[in-house]
Amino acid sequence: MPSPPIWLMRQAGRYLPEYRKLRKEAANFLEFCFSPALAIEATLQPIRRYGLDAAILFSDILTVPWALGQKVEFLEGEGPKLAAIRGPGDLDRLTCDGVVEKLSPVYRVVAGVCAALPAHIALIGFAGAPWTIAAYMVEGGGSRDFLAARGWALSDDRGFSRLIDMVVRVTIDHLAAQIEAGAETVQLFDSWAGVLSEAEFRRWVIAPTRLIVAALNTRYPQIPIIGFPRGAGPLLLDYAAQTGVTAVGLDTQVPLGWAMSELPAAFPIQGNLDPMALVVGGRALKENVAAILAQTKGRPLIFNLGHGVPQITPPEHVEELIRLVREG
Ligand code: CP3
Repeated sequence: MPSPPIWLMRQAGRYLPEYRKLRKEAANFLEFCFSPALAIEATLQPIRRYGLDAAILFSDILTVPWALGQKVEFLEGEGPKLAAIRGPGDLDRLTCDGVVEKLSPVYRVVAGVCAALPAHIALIGFAGAPWTIAAYMVEGGGSRDFLAARGWALSDDRGFSRLIDMVVRVTIDHLAAQIEAGAETVQLFDSWAGVLSEAEFRRWVIAPTRLIVAALNTRYPQIPIIGFPRGAGPLLLDYAAQTGVTAVGLDTQVPLGWAMSELPAAFPIQGNLDPMALVVGGRALKENVAAILAQTKGRPLIFNLGHGVPQITPPEHVEELIRLVREG
């Protein structure tokens, strides 16, 4: 059996000394994302250092709220801060007009990376899924449980769906523009899917994702779409069956044995190494990699982590991980 392809969520970023150096060339993180030369270089850094099988566009999911007209800032050491949208009245401050034009530097990054990559390395484009994007927009930043967003979603279906519909529309355009610029696969990050009840998960995770996938499949039937509904639990099965995604990303907690027996046999999966095994390295890394390879035999697998590369990861552990996966 050939070894599975491998790339890592957050393979670019602050755990790499060359990224920390490059990052100093922009005054703030959004400016960094929108400077094609810097973002192209950040995308290519992990490709040059390691023999990964795919590059992921260097950008951020929160460029979309910014392009909708919301104030978005990344404060050093504090994470993202957005001017919170707390009800339907605030939606009038947003507009879908001109989103693709505002995000045009991102597509220049895609085109530039494509031109620089050898043909055997895939370029993955991405966007946040509507629920996760709306959750940040309403909360005004990160949160443990996203109470404001869940409260609005549960109490005002009509108002909240206006927000979700806007995000669906611009996400389709944003991903289509990345594909036009050369992205060969796209991933939808639903990082906060796991805070929703079953009914709300169906309403705000599965339904909007299905709309995005259907629109992209019609225009680009050959482009695979990876869905990553982090924390979905058993709802992963309906997510895989009903959204139309080509592959599902499994978070760290998904039991692989369960996923193997419950997902259709040929359904491709991505994941789900514990990021802490990468941080720790050594025997923990070796055993965790071996367990994933043993449990996923016979199924199309994209080797990845169950979430992003932690900032404290020693860069040489990524090299070690790739070697372990390639050696089987
Ligand atoms: O290498 C890659 O994966 C490509 C680049 C990428 C970034 N963010 C760069 C980034 C990708 C794919 C993302 C996705 C993203 N952004 C998600 C979904 C994945 C996940 O982690 O669940 C989310 C929720 C965000 C929002 C976001 N952006 C947060 C919460 C933060 C602050 C936390 C942190 O790590 O600082 C960011 C900032 C961010 N995005 C950084 C990077 C490299 C760090 C900022 C800096 O370098 O100054």
